Amino acid sequence: MKILAIESSCDETAAAVVENGRTVLSNVVSTQIEKHKIFGGVVPEIASRLHTENISAVVEKALQDANCTIGDVDAVAVTYAPGLIGALLVGVNYAKGLSLASGKPLVPVHHLRSHIAANYITHKDLKPPFMCLVVSGGNTLLCKVRDYTDFEVVGRTRDDAAGEAMDKAARTLGLPYPGGVNLDKLSKNGDNTKYKFPRPHVEGSPLDFSFSGLKTSVINLVHNAEQKGEELNTADVGASFINAVVNSLAENTVNAMEQYGEKTLVLAGGVSANSVLRRRMEEEAKAHGWHLFLPDLSLCGDNGAMVGAQGYYEFLKRRFAHLSLNAKATADIAENPEI
Ligand code: KG4
Repeated sequence: MKILAIESSCDETAAAVVENGRTVLSNVVSTQIEKHKIFGGVVPEIASRLHTENISAVVEKALQDANCTIGDVDAVAVTYAPGLIGALLVGVNYAKGLSLASGKPLVPVHHLRSHIAANYITHKDLKPPFMCLVVSGGNTLLCKVRDYTDFEVVGRTRDDAAGEAMDKAARTLGLPYPGGVNLDKLSKNGDNTKYKFPRPHVEGSPLDFSFSGLKTSVINLVHNAEQKGEELNTADVGASFINAVVNSLAENTVNAMEQYGEKTLVLAGGVSANSVLRRRMEEEAKAHGWHLFLPDLSLCGDNGAMVGAQGYYEFLKRRFAHLSLNAKATADIAENPEI
């Protein structure tokens, strides 16, 4: 079964054709990074306009690369939530048009479910149940993936996402957008013990995260140094900051794995590309005897292939949407869209 999948939740216009949820026949990503770089972050209005300009060509190329036409696919899957509302609407409306014109079912896909599904492409033998740490630009959560379309959130951030904190730290250190990846590169040779950052804990909810205090503390460190005319070693600051974020992610993950008696851990989302986080989770997996699954680096960021992978499992549950499907800026991973 072939699914044409469309993704436009943030700053990548993407489309892919995926067979049976696991085999990528094409995967086209048109990134807007250069356009947002001068603003130091994603400008939602510009993102929506660029999606509108690019989406037809991206979808056409995805079909061409897969050697098929819309007539050859079994369904059109699309990211409907969560994300930038204007950006999501472009993909949702385009998918609705394609579905209406072709008569193919429309399959709404939750963005974080698709980040998790990137692992089904990377690891053909991976099947739920497992515990998943989802770390992206807009969300950070720990969830039990009971089945392909059945999720239970066991921990979540109370404020900022890990990716948001990485991006703000990078920006404060003068690194260009996209911050997270540049911070990772800068920090490779830094001393991660040089600067002390707070160890965030959410009172009474040991599996929840909080990154806003960490974010403020790196901003304060840099501003104080500037005011005093002191030179900071940015690689050391970056490495210490990443270490603090990764410690928090790892501690809660270990607690969740123990509390729920899980032995399989999956990482998902843009921040799962972080080299320190990947290494740390490999160490934890070894120490605790877990099976660890990491998404291929090429599938950590937003892409259409992961939407096609999750779309397949939503299709099997016959979760088809009507043309009244709306985009949503926020939506819990466990919640199913109104269809
Ligand atoms: O999952 P994603 O592509 O977008 C959302 O769905 O939110 O995640 C983007 C986030 C950004 O905050 C970006 O800075 C971060 O992932 N990121 C990284 C790395 N690569 C991407 N953060 C740390 N280290 C990286 N290597």
